[in-house]
Amino acid sequence: MEINLDQLQKLADEELNGVKDAAGLERFRVAYLGRKEGKLNAVLRSLKDLPEEERRVVGPRANALRQYLEQKIEEKVRDLESAGLSDGEGERIDVTAPAKRLSRGHLHPMTQLMQKAIVIFSSMGFGVVSGPEVETEYYNFDALNVPKDHPARDMQDTFWLDVPGLLLRTQTSPVQIRYMEKHKPPFRMIAPGKVFRNEATDATHEAQFYQLEGLMIGKDVSLANLKAILEVFYRNLLDDQKLKIRFRPSYFPFVEPGVETDLTCFKCRGKGCVVCKKTGWIEVMGAGMVHPKVLENVGIDSRQWQGFAFGGGLDRIAMIKYGIDDIRLLYNGDLRFLKQF
Ligand code: FA5
Repeated sequence: MEINLDQLQKLADEELNGVKDAAGLERFRVAYLGRKEGKLNAVLRSLKDLPEEERRVVGPRANALRQYLEQKIEEKVRDLESAGLSDGEGERIDVTAPAKRLSRGHLHPMTQLMQKAIVIFSSMGFGVVSGPEVETEYYNFDALNVPKDHPARDMQDTFWLDVPGLLLRTQTSPVQIRYMEKHKPPFRMIAPGKVFRNEATDATHEAQFYQLEGLMIGKDVSLANLKAILEVFYRNLLDDQKLKIRFRPSYFPFVEPGVETDLTCFKCRGKGCVVCKKTGWIEVMGAGMVHPKVLENVGIDSRQWQGFAFGGGLDRIAMIKYGIDDIRLLYNGDLRFLKQF
């Protein structure tokens, strides 16, 4: 038996040397240590049939051989792992393989649109300014000549903060006031940015959306100038050189006269369809001549200076430009949607 064990160890060493992968190693383990057919296990099982004296010699020797083989198998596992061959599939590092491409993100469609709007207005000499999203009641309403009892101040529309007199701006128009407090006319500027309204959302209404404010003050700036400028703006923004705009009388406390601005319907080109409710026009922004009271509020002499202001929603323009049928898609962060732009 002593001799048999020595031979068994020699045989095992030779076989183990020839093992090249994990599958081969498993075959080796079963062949020697397997419960049923393992060669060493057969020896261990037969111990009980040996005379007492022989058993005392062979028993420890056989157990030592088992430990030896277990250790050898562990070493082999490590060797195979470090050679990258442990799964038997020939897994190797190919240093010549091309690197994996990192996927790159891109700007949000609203940011792209805003940047385009900025380029167009800059080309017409408008400066770009910004204002705070947390505003005071004074800048958002009072200085803009919005009466104390105007429904826009209601809890329905305005997100009031816990600090009295502070709110999330409901429009970009307060930037007009902040700008005019610091600059003397003549000037022309735009102020794009986020605004917030406490409204129920649906396909065309969000609680947070983008507006683009504009202001131009000079000696003889008129609504005719505004119409020409807005035509250039929308034609370039929407890549449609035939697009027309029209003004309709409207009311905003900070302009006099006030207008709503409509664009030729992008869908039917003015013929009338479901999108424009058969009118051929789509409403896009409020505008008008800056109210003399607003000019006086910031210390500009309304007998010497006059000009226009406008404020439009950018989200609905994005919906027109990109054919998006629900404004909420712009803010839910779904990459399947965003990757299309
Ligand atoms: C205003 O906010 C005025 N400040 C515009 C203005 C500026 C008039 C300067 C005169 C002079 P209005 O509340 O109509 O106006 O909003 C302007 C635009 O914002 C709308 O035409 C619409 O495009 C967009 N808008 C309004 N509410 C929402 C909303 N919940 N979701 C998405 N867009 C909206």
